[in-house]
Amino acid sequence: MKIAILGLGTVGSGVMNLLTQNREIIEERTNQTFEVSHVYGRSNRYQIDLTNIVHTDNIEDIIQSDVDIVIEVLGGIDFTYQTIKKLLLAGKHVVTANKDMLAIHVEELSRIANENQVQFNYEASVAGGIPVILGLQHGLNANRIHRFMGILNGTTNYILTRMTQDDWDFNQALEQAQQLGYAESDPTNDIGGFDAQRKTAILSRLAYRQEIDLEEVSVKGIEELQLKDIQIAQQLGYTMKLIGLSEMQDNRIEMLVGPMLIPSDSQLASVNEAMNAVFFNGDAIGETMCYGPGAGSMETASAIVADMMGIMNFGFIGNTETKESALTTSETFPRKYYVRLLATTEIKQMVENNQYDIVYSKDNDIAIQTPIMSLSELLDSVSTESIQALYPIID
Ligand code: HSE
Repeated sequence: MKIAILGLGTVGSGVMNLLTQNREIIEERTNQTFEVSHVYGRSNRYQIDLTNIVHTDNIEDIIQSDVDIVIEVLGGIDFTYQTIKKLLLAGKHVVTANKDMLAIHVEELSRIANENQVQFNYEASVAGGIPVILGLQHGLNANRIHRFMGILNGTTNYILTRMTQDDWDFNQALEQAQQLGYAESDPTNDIGGFDAQRKTAILSRLAYRQEIDLEEVSVKGIEELQLKDIQIAQQLGYTMKLIGLSEMQDNRIEMLVGPMLIPSDSQLASVNEAMNAVFFNGDAIGETMCYGPGAGSMETASAIVADMMGIMNFGFIGNTETKESALTTSETFPRKYYVRLLATTEIKQMVENNQYDIVYSKDNDIAIQTPIMSLSELLDSVSTESIQALYPIID
């Protein structure tokens, strides 16, 4: 089999290294040999040995070639989407790790791949080293999944771990996460929650087999998260994590990403450093948890090479297509909230009138824990200008 790799950044170089390191088992387990014949992209900053490999910066060289499987680890959205479309139409199998592009175009590309009888695999796009995509497509396929919840971004989990456990400053933790190769080239997508938003959209689509509009996944990042909220949460027995939560009730769905308080003695609270974990709830399995590395060069390469091996073994087996969404996302589901407010006399009176549970009071701050209620009901009961922090509590 002839393989092309688009992009030789952190993940692309990891793929090259893994293909070299594990060539013997890859060939043994697929019962065939492979050759990386083409590499696309100008940079080779990890100085990968490209002897006997066509190194091009013209994508047409790959589209027109006799390559069988193209591995896309370039990143970016528009160019990559156009390129993958051309590759699928040219009869190439494609493996991608590109959640930014998939969150928008997966439906169309899966359909084009099916029409052209080629495989389009994207295990590495969500939770790198954990097989959650294949888990939903195959392992959990007999279930009606009605909920999942997880830590889907390694960078923010690393930052929150350092802040929670070691009182590190946000910027110091981010810098370290970048050095360790967890962060995106533009870390705004990590800390702004957009990376986890895209992953939540990709998983929701496979979980419910419905088209998912990325904009319907509400998103809040950790940029404004203050150490004092992390600490108050800890005193209450909760740990602050950036969570991707997706729930379906009847024909309603809620998908949200943001900092949330989860019980400190829960399994998810013990998922630290750059690790990821996802709980799936289904009608046959009850609850299943997957845990593992969500980012990193070799960790992500593991998923990509497995996708490649799947194609070497089975060729075209079909790609998951979904139905037009019949779900509505208009109202948020009722839940508990942690709210920190500016402690004016008026607010104190309001809190008292509503009989909210005051969990912290110091200087200008008053923090409350609400009973289960809708967000609109909560926002109606306190003046929005006084809200300093507002995070869901997921017991
Ligand atoms: N920047 C991502 C993360 C990489 O931190 O999880 C894996 O998608």
